[in-house]
Amino acid sequence: MALAIRTHEQPQNLEQQALRDEALRGFAASPKAMSPKFFYDHRGSQLFELICQQPEYYPTRTEETILRLAADAIAELAGRNASLVELGSGASRKIRLLLEALRPARYLGIDISREFLDICTRRLAADYRWLDVHALCADFSQPLKLPAEALGQRPLAFFPGSSIGNFDPIEARAFLRNLHQALPAGSGLLIGVDLVKNRQVLERAYNDAAGVTALFNLNLLERIRTELDSDIDPQRFEHRAFYNEQASRIEMHLVSREKQQVRIEDRVFDFAAGETLHTENSYKYTPGTFRALASECGFASVAMWRDPAQLFSVHFLRRE
Ligand code: AVI
Repeated sequence: MALAIRTHEQPQNLEQQALRDEALRGFAASPKAMSPKFFYDHRGSQLFELICQQPEYYPTRTEETILRLAADAIAELAGRNASLVELGSGASRKIRLLLEALRPARYLGIDISREFLDICTRRLAADYRWLDVHALCADFSQPLKLPAEALGQRPLAFFPGSSIGNFDPIEARAFLRNLHQALPAGSGLLIGVDLVKNRQVLERAYNDAAGVTALFNLNLLERIRTELDSDIDPQRFEHRAFYNEQASRIEMHLVSREKQQVRIEDRVFDFAAGETLHTENSYKYTPGTFRALASECGFASVAMWRDPAQLFSVHFLRRE
């Protein structure tokens, strides 16, 4: 039997132009910076999956443990016949855990990487034949229009992995407000949020010994080199990640190993030795700071679970 996956199009052309526009904007900015959403081409998504398997990167396995322990309570809160809407596509064991505990009527996967979305939704449709699978290729940091037939009566949005941490506070508010607009009142939002903690634990998580996070970070330059008309050489840059305690965030940068010029199309950008391209922030919250943010955006706290070492939290919120 052929697998029926309904793919919904968003009227944006994400993959063309966007990387170019962001690179030209970000290299001209002072300090130089690019949005972390450009990490996730096919190779970037694969490298991220590998990061999640590194022993130092605690968020993935900790969130999974929390979800496993809380699965029955989550199923109860979600109710029968739910529609599970995953922001970021379903490559992880976490979504399978929820699908099995909730037995929802529908699944809608939303991802910026069309190729990755395709692979993941096909796999889910093959493994869960009873599930009505939908796919939407979209940038969920922008206002979203969710297809009504994929939402059903009881949507439960799932935003795992503390991806909310990759938005700065203004973007995080905009994201939650967009989601508030896209979801009907009474919808659930199950969201993973990384917690403020000891600097050493945090910095090790973003500087794994195998160097996978470094490859992930440098892959952004590899994309610029191969997808754009550019002479950038990723080997002339190195990965740096550190905890900025004042801002409660991990910062990732690509550091120029030397003074150099980089060309993108007909524009030339100067890098001093040691100058950085700021590629990612990963904000960490306390349960209280996160609840306050959610409530400001129209989501009330219903439940929250943490692991015993208090590394990570999962919040169940209700859209008011
Ligand atoms: C996807 N996101 C939540 C990851 C994080 O921890 O901020 C991305 C990542 N960057 C480096 N390692 C993982």
